[in-house]
Amino acid sequence: MNYREYAPSAEYLHLLSRPMWTSLSGRLAAVLAGVDPAGGVVVEFGAGTGLGTDVLLDTVPDAPVLAAEPSPELRAVLLARLAARPDADRVTVYPAGAADLPLPDRIAAAVGMHMIGHLAPGDRRALFTALVPRLAPGAPVVFNVQPPETAVEVPESEPFAVRAGRLRYEGRGRAEPVGPDRLRWTMTYRTLDGDAEITTAVTHYDWWTVSATTLAAELRAAGASSVDIDGDLVAARG
Ligand SMILES: C[S@@+](CC[C@H](N)C(=O)[O-])C[C@H]1O[C@@H](n2cnc3c(N)ncnc32)[C@H](O)[C@@H]1O
Repeated sequence: MNYREYAPSAEYLHLLSRPMWTSLSGRLAAVLAGVDPAGGVVVEFGAGTGLGTDVLLDTVPDAPVLAAEPSPELRAVLLARLAARPDADRVTVYPAGAADLPLPDRIAAAVGMHMIGHLAPGDRRALFTALVPRLAPGAPVVFNVQPPETAVEVPESEPFAVRAGRLRYEGRGRAEPVGPDRLRWTMTYRTLDGDAEITTAVTHYDWWTVSATTLAAELRAAGASSVDIDGDLVAARG
């Protein structure tokens, strides 16, 4: 496997993603509250730099965690961040995308944040078909969706920036439709010292658009006993 779409943005992803997790952490923790650690393994798809992995570890005590991440650059950040945690030995970081991850037979909870659009519809449904029957009774599986719901052109966003030390790290994105439910995103990143650009990076990736309602229907079709939609979060139960 040689997945490199996040190589140019790896330096930026953690810094620029942290603000998105300010409210998401609590919302995800609320869905995971009461997960039975004896129910099996807690699985995370597309763990990135570990912002969700922290929530899993903090919310579900004792359960083993399987954090899958296909990008070697993001895995480096993930492994380094996890190594600083006292409970690091609970986590297995697996180098795989969702379709290539060997799923445990018994799953206590499963999570995929900001990643479902990386899966083509057939792969997404195949994942749900494999995943839902492995869930312990009542165990949650949670994904989130990101706009737009359909493949429409997205004009370049205003730059989003965070400061680290003296430098400012900035990201912006635009997307164009490349199929009926498929967008190609172009993300541009810059590192600035005052007004001076020190370095810049551009990356492209394809993203399959999907609505929360469609995800919910697919999870139900895969055998989920219940599905709740809370804004961008879709939470099903085994
Ligand atoms: C926008 S990042 C989100 C990272 C993290 N979940 C978060 O919310 O901070 C998308 C993640 O999905 C991963 N990814 C890409 N293709 C994937 C696939 N086919 N299956 C699972 N994850 C994938 C990327 O490597 C990246 O870590």
